[in-house]
Amino acid sequence: MSFQDDTSQRILLIGAGELGSAILPHLQLLPNVFITVGVRSVTKYTHLGSLNTAIQFLDITGPELLLTEKFAQFDVVISCTGFGQEPGRLMDLARQILAAGKLRESLGKGKLWFFPWQWGVDYDITGDADGLMPLFGQQVHVRNLLRSKAKESNVKWTILSTGIFMSFLFQQTWGVIEKESENVSNTRKINVSALRDLDHKVTVTDVSDIGKVLARIMAGAIESEDRILYVAGDTVSYKQLADIIRRATGEYVHEQVWTMPHLKEELAKDPDNLTKKYRVVFAGHGVSWDKQLTVNHQLEIPVTDVETYAREHLSF
Ligand SMILES: NC(=O)c1ccc[n+]([C@@H]2O[C@H](COP(=O)([O-])OP(=O)(O)OC[C@H]3O[C@@H](n4cnc5c(N)ncnc54)[C@H](OP(=O)(O)O)[C@@H]3O)[C@@H](O)[C@H]2O)c1
Repeated sequence: MSFQDDTSQRILLIGAGELGSAILPHLQLLPNVFITVGVRSVTKYTHLGSLNTAIQFLDITGPELLLTEKFAQFDVVISCTGFGQEPGRLMDLARQILAAGKLRESLGKGKLWFFPWQWGVDYDITGDADGLMPLFGQQVHVRNLLRSKAKESNVKWTILSTGIFMSFLFQQTWGVIEKESENVSNTRKINVSALRDLDHKVTVTDVSDIGKVLARIMAGAIESEDRILYVAGDTVSYKQLADIIRRATGEYVHEQVWTMPHLKEELAKDPDNLTKKYRVVFAGHGVSWDKQLTVNHQLEIPVTDVETYAREHLSF
């Protein structure tokens, strides 16, 4: 059973996958909030319900008018719908949010606070990566739409640039940290492959820390209206990453460099391969920032760094 009263801040969290489910516990701790988790398959998520959390059916590909009316019922909308969206869907959602903000205004309600699905890199810098990543290009369009139309639509927005999820850095499919199978002499080897060069950097954040920082922002700990804020669990060069993996595992770590020409050549052989497209993008600019510039640094929020994560999660 869930409970809300008229004074509760109403939050809609769209999606409860890896990110949404990690964010939710932090939202639940905020005072006087009521959270609705909107997902397509409600039964999959009933365990997330609580006194201040309801799970509700929502499909953001549904009829536009219904969605606008739905969004207008909330004070805050947080989008955690994942990477699997059609690129155009991001703009559709942003437009519906603007329409919902206007609807709220006509009903005498305050601004709708929107956290779009931008939990990633600095899309203003990456752009669409010369046509390689239409989804990233759409992120820039969403930013520009919000920059130009949010105020007149009774909407305020905050974007959290988080870098890649910490878990993603360690995924075998990403291939940057890769364990070679044991050979005849029973020795193991871990390859750390630098994208571009060993001094190139990447910013990564654990999903739970994203939730921690988001909750502090929502509690008003920092100026956040109509702006892009940066978060970083860690920012490391690939050389530092190799050293971290060496210390954390005690294994032999081989460093190699995937130069930009090499990554582009690999992609040319397999042009639809999304991982290879990503590697080219991550060998470019806009994928890392200084920890000193982050909200977590400014607010002294403790976050998990790469070494701590590696020691806790690496099971080589
Ligand atoms: N910065 C990054 O590195 C980054 C950013 C994003 C994602 N990723 C990667 O992508 C993976 C997924 O993470 P994620 O949490 O973003 O996504 P996810 O785990 O795929 O979860 C997506 C959530 O959105 C819901 N959803 C999807 N389509 C919907 C729709 N049309 N209407 C309403 N709800 C919808 C899903 O609900 P249903 O189950 O009901 O469909 C699910 O709860 C991770 O492995 C992560 O590494 C990385």
